[in-house]
Amino acid sequence: MMNIEGEEMRKPIRLIAAACRDMGIGKDGQIPWCLPKEFQFLLDTITAVSAPGKKNLIVWGRICWFSCPETVFPLANCINLVLSRKMISVPPHAHYLCKDFDSIIRLVSEPPLCHTVEVIWILGGTEVYKESLEHPWCDLIYLTDIMANFECDVFFPEFDPNIFRKQKSFPGVPDEIIEENGIKFQFQVFKKIKN
Ligand SMILES: NC(=O)c1ccc[n+]([C@@H]2O[C@H](COP(=O)([O-])OP(=O)(O)OC[C@H]3O[C@@H](n4cnc5c(N)ncnc54)[C@H](OP(=O)(O)O)[C@@H]3O)[C@@H](O)[C@H]2O)c1
Repeated sequence: MMNIEGEEMRKPIRLIAAACRDMGIGKDGQIPWCLPKEFQFLLDTITAVSAPGKKNLIVWGRICWFSCPETVFPLANCINLVLSRKMISVPPHAHYLCKDFDSIIRLVSEPPLCHTVEVIWILGGTEVYKESLEHPWCDLIYLTDIMANFECDVFFPEFDPNIFRKQKSFPGVPDEIIEENGIKFQFQVFKKIKN
């Protein structure tokens, strides 16, 4: 996509999630585990920018948005966008409301966001993850492996491991197994091979 000056306005789209053994990510609108260090890693990752004034666009499905504790807001360096077909006004702490995925792409391709947004971080849930994985701008999946079984009713979508390759190590991402509240987990990054 080009802006009015004809510049390429492509922004990396990155998914971030934590999934347990059967790829479950949620139950009854909540995250089934309590792993503060894992959550802090997510916050540190989505708020990181390369220079002052730069921002990341954080994309939330409606249920994810309303299940997030209000205490995390404001998120430094972040512009929050909620996806919903039903909502008619931007909820407190959010900056934008979009009714479909294509509207997000249009929004970041035009001023003012085309000048400030560095990364589009996708925080879920399932449908938003699915659409993001299929988008040509998607380059990375940050997917924490929660090494335990939890009952879930929402799942991370399947993706092709030949297209998104697991990285042995990745800058800024601890690669050791971490244990918290008796639960082991490991951060993982999957990188899309160039096509
Ligand atoms: N473990 C993790 O890393 C992780 C990450 C994310 C979420 N979760 C968990 O997953 C669950 C929430 O995920 P979910 O999949 O059930 O719900 P969700 O994606 O958060 O919310 C679903 C709603 O978002 C809107 N929406 C989603 N995709 C859309 C699209 N393409 N265009 C327009 N609107 C769209 C719709 O809202 P309307 O109905 O208003 O139209 C839809 O009903 C919770 O349990 C949460 O805790 C876990």
